Amino acid sequence: MNKNPLHIVILAAGKGTRMYSKMPKVLHEIGGKPMLARVIDTAAQLNPQKICVVIGHGKEQVLEKVQRDVVWVEQTEQLGTGHAVKTALPHLPAEGRTLVLYGDVPLTDAATLENLLAAAGNEVGLLTDVLDDPTGYGRIIRNGGKVVAIVEEKDADAAQKAVKETNTGILVLPNAKLEGWLNSLSSNNAQGEYYLTDLIALANTDGIAVHPVQVAASHLAAGVNNKVQLAELERIFQAGQAQALLKAGVTLRDPARFDLRGRLKHGQDVVIDANVIIEGEVEIGDDVEIGANCVIKNAKIGAGSRIAPFSVLEDCEVGSNNHIGPYARLRPQAKLAADVHIGNFVEVKNARIGQGTKANHLTYIGDAEVGRKTNFGAGTIIANYDGVHKHQTVIGDEVRIGSNSVLVAPVTLGDRVTTGAGSAITKNCEAGKLVLARSRQTVIEGWVRPEKGDKK
Ligand code: UD1
Ligand code: CA
Repeated sequence: MNKNPLHIVILAAGKGTRMYSKMPKVLHEIGGKPMLARVIDTAAQLNPQKICVVIGHGKEQVLEKVQRDVVWVEQTEQLGTGHAVKTALPHLPAEGRTLVLYGDVPLTDAATLENLLAAAGNEVGLLTDVLDDPTGYGRIIRNGGKVVAIVEEKDADAAQKAVKETNTGILVLPNAKLEGWLNSLSSNNAQGEYYLTDLIALANTDGIAVHPVQVAASHLAAGVNNKVQLAELERIFQAGQAQALLKAGVTLRDPARFDLRGRLKHGQDVVIDANVIIEGEVEIGDDVEIGANCVIKNAKIGAGSRIAPFSVLEDCEVGSNNHIGPYARLRPQAKLAADVHIGNFVEVKNARIGQGTKANHLTYIGDAEVGRKTNFGAGTIIANYDGVHKHQTVIGDEVRIGSNSVLVAPVTLGDRVTTGAGSAITKNCEAGKLVLARSRQTVIEGWVRPEKGDKK
């Protein structure tokens, strides 16, 4: 364990022109989380004394979307990576060391960074990669095995361009040297920028060793400059998550067609079919089956429940042994007890539904409290909204609501009420009663059906 206190600077001031987006690049998401938030969360795992994030383009958007406890530093003009680190200098003490990370390099893990820190000791550590096609990257220049400089693509000669060992950009520097080195940078190069990479040559001049560490896999240090690279890293990230779930015993019918954009807590013998998307915080119990093409966000699903294909669940709780879907929609604050059935084209919002209650077809249940073993006939609508206010509906136990009913809120149906099909229920119903609220069927005697060829 190195006692050298750690500081981290994350560079995130660039615009990301090649994303062709109104949003600054570092806010684009991997696994449902802005890239910059991902980098900050990884940085925090190293327990640094301080994390400084250098921002510039779209800083208001960044501050709004990435709410983390870090020191935000503004770089008003993007004059190069060396200049960016220099803007953070007032926040870095003269002792300890500084790790430089990038807001658009989202998949670096703490283990990779810990290796780098261990190799660097009190000197310089440099995370490198070896690429078949190194085009665009800074090249590692060695002399007798020692790393002596980094040359940027645009400044490199033919021999240097042939080098396949590249700079990932991630490096560790001793704070005692940082200010002096940064102040001696010049922008006399092909891009007219202050290159952070020039510190490698300066370290050599000062007799401070540079310790290169090669990344275990390229994606761990890969940056995102465009949507192609964003999509590639998303797939790598999702594949990793799917592997972890498989290893933990979750059955994924097709790990290549599963997306987790958040966190999934799961029990045993969970089965997830193709094209399921899990977002936010989701918890599913033992023996839960999730059918194809479901989208489940911030939900809790009790043991033994089955969510049939094409169902959409958000901010809701499903009890044990429920049957949900196909084509069901559970909206925020839907809270279902055990043994509930919610069938096709049924929407539930802000409603508690008691044990064993069923709404199997074409129904809307909103702003309601529903008892146990109640049955909603097909086509039941709770009219909860009068155009200005939402009103509450209370339905007791073992109620039978006839098909094609409208329950106009506020309204209460006592236990064991039965309502006739096609009723518009506007008044409270006493327990145990049969209630009809529809016009009677009549027969028009003597009516003759018009036929083609009749005179008008
Ligand atoms: C940099 C490295 C290069 C390395 C490559 C890896 C330098 C000079 N070159 O090149 O050796 O192979 O990364 O991807 O460091 N940024 C700021 N403020 C600035 C300039 C940049 O915050 O003034 C941020 C950018 O938003 C970006 C990151 O720093 O996230 C890297 O800058 P960029 O200009 O993309 O450097 P590269 O040319 O890719
Ligand atoms: Ca770049």
